Amino acid sequence: MEQATVIQTSDFDVQAVRKDFPILGRSVHGKPLVYLDTAASAQRPLAVIEATDRFYREYNANVHRGVHTLSQEATEHYEDARRKLTSHINAGSEREVIFTRGTTEAINLVANSYLRPKLKPGDEILITHMEHHSNIVPWQMLCEQTGAVLKVAPINHRGELELDALAAMLSERVALLGVVHISNALGTINPVAEICRMAGRFNIPVLVDGAQALPHSSVDVQALGCDFYCLSAHKMYGPTGIGALWAREETLEAMPPWQGGGEMINRVTFEKSTWAELPNKFEAGTPNIAGGVGLGAAIDYLQGLGLDAIADHESRLLDYATQKLGAIEGLRIVGTAAKKAGVVSFLLDDIHPHDLGTIIDHYGVALRTGHHCTMPVMQFFGVPATARASFGLYNTTDEIDVLADALEKVRQMF
Ligand SMILES: Cc1ncc(COP(=O)(O)O)c(C=O)c1O
Repeated sequence: MEQATVIQTSDFDVQAVRKDFPILGRSVHGKPLVYLDTAASAQRPLAVIEATDRFYREYNANVHRGVHTLSQEATEHYEDARRKLTSHINAGSEREVIFTRGTTEAINLVANSYLRPKLKPGDEILITHMEHHSNIVPWQMLCEQTGAVLKVAPINHRGELELDALAAMLSERVALLGVVHISNALGTINPVAEICRMAGRFNIPVLVDGAQALPHSSVDVQALGCDFYCLSAHKMYGPTGIGALWAREETLEAMPPWQGGGEMINRVTFEKSTWAELPNKFEAGTPNIAGGVGLGAAIDYLQGLGLDAIADHESRLLDYATQKLGAIEGLRIVGTAAKKAGVVSFLLDDIHPHDLGTIIDHYGVALRTGHHCTMPVMQFFGVPATARASFGLYNTTDEIDVLADALEKVRQMF
């Protein structure tokens, strides 16, 4: 095997960072855990675990409605998380940050509240060929219900968006453009600001699926120039079951509520109900309070390490992994965009990725195998599935070596 060039991962103290993640100390099948599935869900630092633990131990109560101390403390912590997220993504105000269950729910909210009332038969919804199912299926459902048409901007064999083709598909007929910021299957980083400028010439609103972007880079929703930005806390080292939708206040004001129930109303009579102010208008029912508290802690944690330092560390890991895995005989990397985040999707000879993932697990390595909720990407590359190594801020080049050695053993086995 050709020797990969060793790249040092800067002065980011990854060994100190790893101590923040208790789960990284465990073993799997008698081997130290090598967790390379952060794109599916990141591990949580102690700060997040302890923040949610403190909520349940010390001030567990429902938010917004209580005058008692526990409820007020819970509300304060929950709303503090919203304040943190507001400044983390540079939203205009907390009124622009709607808590949802995650990216999927945020996209469905936009589909049902923003777009559905506007759509006419023949209108177009434009997405790209590299979208996650969560940025395909809600639009498809909407098209079926309204007679609108789903259009798909093509990608090339490196897994990059064909910007000229996308530009040619923009017109007054397009009611919304949905684009993933960073592809979970390919790692491609899309030029979202440029895409927003292109769409702006036709006044096309742009929804950005930011699920994979928040953990890897700093995001400024205003600088991007998009209209909707969707995110999930569990990808950014926070809890599952919580995420957010960002949109400008005037956009949200003009949208009808999506789900009805408690929390989202101002006044209810049997004749008519009126809606709560933003952001509560879109937050029916008891929210994921512990999740919100944990998200706030995750943001503090990310900011403490510094998004630039994290991005730098991960890009070095990506370079190292690309060289190291690329040197393995019979290994083909799927997704070789010029601008990529910490994801390496690959195939090894004709070994089915599921077999590969199962065997690799016995070396303690957690890889994701399958279609990664991006079946059209698999169809484009003519493969049923890939194996995917995805990197987080706690990964090391040593772990990539463990993966590479395990892959060599699997190759020899078959
Ligand atoms: C790019 C992308 N979009 C959307 C999602 C959906 O996120 P969630 O399941 O948290 O709603 C994911 C999750 O894998 C993703 O990677």
